[in-house]
Amino acid sequence: MAKTNWGILSTANIGRKAMIPALKASKLADIRAVASRDLDNARQFADELQIEHAYGSYQELLEDDEINAIYIPLPNHLHKEWSIRAARAGKHVLCEKPLALTAEDCEEMKATADAHGVLLMESFMYRHHPRILAAREMVKTGKIGELKIINAGFTFWLADENDIRNQPEMGGGAVMDVGCYCINISRLMAGREPQVVQARAEWAFSGVDDKLVGMLDFGGGLMAHFDCGFNMESRQECIIAGTDGYLSLPRTFTPGLEETMIEEQKGKKSLLTHRFDGVDEYRLIAEDFMRSIPTGKPPYDANDAAANLRVIQACLQSARQNGSPVVIKTALN
Ligand SMILES: NC(=O)c1ccc[n+]([C@@H]2O[C@H](COP(=O)([O-])OP(=O)(O)OC[C@H]3O[C@@H](n4cnc5c(N)ncnc54)[C@H](OP(=O)(O)O)[C@@H]3O)[C@@H](O)[C@H]2O)c1
Repeated sequence: MAKTNWGILSTANIGRKAMIPALKASKLADIRAVASRDLDNARQFADELQIEHAYGSYQELLEDDEINAIYIPLPNHLHKEWSIRAARAGKHVLCEKPLALTAEDCEEMKATADAHGVLLMESFMYRHHPRILAAREMVKTGKIGELKIINAGFTFWLADENDIRNQPEMGGGAVMDVGCYCINISRLMAGREPQVVQARAEWAFSGVDDKLVGMLDFGGGLMAHFDCGFNMESRQECIIAGTDGYLSLPRTFTPGLEETMIEEQKGKKSLLTHRFDGVDEYRLIAEDFMRSIPTGKPPYDANDAAANLRVIQACLQSARQNGSPVVIKTALN
């Protein structure tokens, strides 16, 4: 398979810390260039990370004919504009989560990508980890009986008032930043979309949700509840419970390169621990994406991102209405 030539839009932290090292470690990828709003910044970043070319604007990078895929780790409010621009330039797009600010925007982005024959995928790396795939399979094959409850949490301390996550106009807030993972894993394990959502939030001075607790009713006796926040100790967890047992996934979303596990509880005494070797989930998502380029079908398309955003938006709407139920309108519900 021909290598994919990547361009990186911005000098974002997540690129520096996670995605660029992952692409460098992959035999399927080459990183050709990085762009920043500031050329000196781009050059310094390129030197530090040993990337050949540096551009002083995102548009210049999109005009580089040698590049065929773009990684977008921009603030959330810029995902739509630059995904669309990249698609129009004929580049495949792996864009950070959440894919956009609204479900409608995701649909527009997908239509543009489809029209230009390029892939567009949201970078939820956690679901490419073998542990998550195994948990999904265990749920699907009835290992824990009938699925009843999914309970997910993702919190950390965010002290910096200037961080993009604390800016409402940039699509900040706890549910956009980390609650999106809890919603995503709930939908993934449920295998269907929630019908009704309720949420309560604690609001920061800036106007973003500092903490949000949500309940998703999938119908048929399956519910999920989750919490996310910027004003607590770091915590990531997910418990998936059924009529015959439950699965627990410690450090659910970013297990790092350490060995991970699924704890499977059945009956009062039986606790099974399924162990998984440490692996770089950022490399896995990038490679799954690159392998799907010749097929034209990404592992998750932008309709999935739209469905996730529909739930995020419903949670925020409910929280603004002090927890009143919000019905999610999809073709299926
Ligand atoms: N999947 C994951 O594990 C994960 C983890 C963390 C974050 N993320 C996602 O990745 C994205 C970036 O997060 P981050 O924490 O890495 O962000 P960050 O370090 O703040 O970087 C964002 C970059 O965007 C560029 N930018 C363009 N316009 C900007 C503006 N008006 N204000 C600030 N920056 C601007 C800047 O690059 P230049 O100055 O070089 O142009 C900046 O370095 C977000 O969508 C976030 O949700 C994903």
